[in-house]
Amino acid sequence: MPALLKFLHVLSAIVWLGGVSFMLFALRPAAAELLTPPLRLPFIAQALGRFFKLVWGSIAVLLLTGLAMLLAVGMKKAPLGWHAMFGIGLLMFALFGHLYFGPFRRLKMAVKAADWPEGGRRVGQIAMLAQITLLLGTLSIAAVFFLA
Ligand code: HEM
Repeated sequence: MPALLKFLHVLSAIVWLGGVSFMLFALRPAAAELLTPPLRLPFIAQALGRFFKLVWGSIAVLLLTGLAMLLAVGMKKAPLGWHAMFGIGLLMFALFGHLYFGPFRRLKMAVKAADWPEGGRRVGQIAMLAQITLLLGTLSIAAVFFLA
């Protein structure tokens, strides 16, 4: 059971952080180079919408499996790195909620209204929050490895 929990936990982290890396470093620059805003922004909005469904699932699995592993050991006995991962993870979840219900919702509205400058601004905000997510995710994993 502990191995299964950790397996599902790590799998979810890979889905989330791998997807963010792909969006930031492959899909977005390629779309910016090849597509004009009236094609690019609906394309990015739809790709994000599909990916974000996976992110919601990953968050649910990360939280449930993470808490199960943490509580099995007990908050008092858990190493510092586990507490750090819990804290940073909660921050990442809150950040994603903000990204989803803020800039992403506004991006979809801008696409519906064919307001490309506004859509471009929202994609920029989403990319900034995604970069912070990637940094926090890396820190949380480093915490488990390096903080006793
Ligand atoms: C807030 C909820 C979270 C809690 C309570 C939590 C808790 C834990 C715990 C207890 C472990 C086990 C460490 C071990 O057995 O050595 C672990 C491992 C891990 N967690 Fe989390 N975690 C959370 C969120 C996250 C997030 C957001 C990510 C990254 C997106 C993440 C990625 C990982 C990875 C990759 C490992 C495996 C590290 C190893 O090989 O030991 N976790 N987590």
